[in-house]
Amino acid sequence: MTDARIRPMRPEDVEAAEQMSSEGFLEVDRRLARRDEPDPEPRSAERGRQWIDRTHHYLRTDPGGCWVAEVDGEMVGFATSFTRELMWILATYVVRPGLQGQGIGTMLLAAALHHGRGCLRGMLSASADARAVRRYRAAGFSLHPQMYLRGTLDRSAIPVVEKVRDGSAADFELMDSIDRRTRGAAHGPDHAWLLSAFRLVVSDTSTGSGYAFHAFDGTPMLLAATNRRTAAQLLWECLAGSGETAYVPHITAANEWAIDVGLAARLDLHQAGYLGLRNLRPPTPYLHHGSLL
Ligand SMILES: CC(C)(COP(=O)(O)OP(=O)(O)OC[C@H]1O[C@@H](n2cnc3c(N)ncnc32)[C@H](O)[C@@H]1OP(=O)(O)O)[C@@H](O)C(=O)NCCC(=O)NCCS
Repeated sequence: MTDARIRPMRPEDVEAAEQMSSEGFLEVDRRLARRDEPDPEPRSAERGRQWIDRTHHYLRTDPGGCWVAEVDGEMVGFATSFTRELMWILATYVVRPGLQGQGIGTMLLAAALHHGRGCLRGMLSASADARAVRRYRAAGFSLHPQMYLRGTLDRSAIPVVEKVRDGSAADFELMDSIDRRTRGAAHGPDHAWLLSAFRLVVSDTSTGSGYAFHAFDGTPMLLAATNRRTAAQLLWECLAGSGETAYVPHITAANEWAIDVGLAARLDLHQAGYLGLRNLRPPTPYLHHGSLL
């Protein structure tokens, strides 16, 4: 086992952590890439800036969940996690390629899990990396395969979307209660961060309520609703904002309503990684965020 020291993450670590995560995930994506897909690309500068901003958000809202591993004073890995109500979330977890498989990740995850020891539930979105999957299962997480939809969008399939409007901070209380119903814990301060980065759309009628954040290319980043019909309307609204190609990540088998929307839009269905859950059934109707879950 490598002689690594585990210490709390500090704001001045975040830029180096972004570099390490960008390199670490590119290495995983290249190793696991399917032959029929384009070569994985490095994280763009804009997504890098967003990653840094989001990680500062974890440190501001729950600094005790973020840990760094050092060897000879140099960062060699980190785990960022936080709690929201009685939910522990693992946001990101990386050990520098070349030093993986030597026990550093086990120590980092133990520190992050210790932070969440008072939480009944846990959530993480895992790559298919064999080492990561070993760690998550050993920590007691159930692994639910994730699917995604991608392809050329058939715009003629998009229905008229009704009763969906732009959302604002005035909707956060409603959104927190939809979160509690779908995933058992509110996102709390994460909604404000998401609103700073993405477009928010809300549906709130006598028959159902829901919300979605989508990127400016239409990709749904987080979607939650009280029923499937409302969820489907929100997903169509996201797709309506897409360009020629569309992408819908993070779909579990419990969310067939999303598969049905994507197939109706003539997108192709694929598999990637797992939703790791502890003491929680796969949320539905729900499309989770990759690190705010
Ligand atoms: C996931 C990660 C953070 C774990 O850190 P690590 O230092 O490699 O973890 P550890 O060495 O403590 O544990 C790795 C486990 O995989 C095993 N392992 C090592 N090499 C392996 C390989 N090539 N294939 C499969 N398993 C392997 C180890 O034996 C160990 O399992 P064990 O404790 O049951 O024996 C690190 O591997 C990593 O950065 N991976 C790429 C990024 C990633 O996928 N992060 C997770 C995002 S969800």
